[in-house]
Amino acid sequence: KRIVVLLSGSGSNLQALIDATQSGRIQGRIVAVISNKPDVKGLERAQDAGIAALLLDHKGFDSREAFDDALQQLIDRQAPDLIILAGFMRILTAGFVRHYLGRMLNIHPSLLPKYKGLHTHQRAIDAGDSEHGCTVHFVTPELDGGPLILQASVPVEAGTSADQLQQQVLKCEHHIYPLAVEWFCAGRLSLTTTGVTLDGIQL
Ligand code: GRF
Repeated sequence: KRIVVLLSGSGSNLQALIDATQSGRIQGRIVAVISNKPDVKGLERAQDAGIAALLLDHKGFDSREAFDDALQQLIDRQAPDLIILAGFMRILTAGFVRHYLGRMLNIHPSLLPKYKGLHTHQRAIDAGDSEHGCTVHFVTPELDGGPLILQASVPVEAGTSADQLQQQVLKCEHHIYPLAVEWFCAGRLSLTTTGVTLDGIQL
């Protein structure tokens, strides 16, 4: 399978995916990494792995629609089977999302449907939650609202900081994202009208 990864930052999830493709665990190849921000570590990681590292700076566009159109063209030139959002910090237009329905995944640092959006770690601490975690889901037009595929959780220790919690959750992300991508690339995972199936079984 041909995979395109979109990111805006450090790309530690990208690194976990690169490692899993290189080991042969994921039956696929990351054909391009696209960032909307220049000079990010994620692009450097792509280059180091010999993957096309492309920049599409959103600052060069007047509207969200114009940016998303250009992004769609750039992605489709790669003829991907799967689009992976890995810390891509942009809200996507509904038309863009629909174009990739069933073949675009995201990872979010919370136990969805809790804490959509930003600052999830601090919000979990402030709410006094005993656990926090991350979720891989199919992307639909509702922000962080698509059908869930896989979650992992960590206990929230008393007195922990948002930074510490983020590090713990990030480790979980590096486990579950490659796993979900492995399933997708093996043809085991689908988005159907009734939800997500793994080996034909409804999750
Ligand atoms: C992760 O916390 C991910 O859940 C969120 O953005 C962050 C990306 O981190 N969507 P990295 O760039 O993969 O290190």
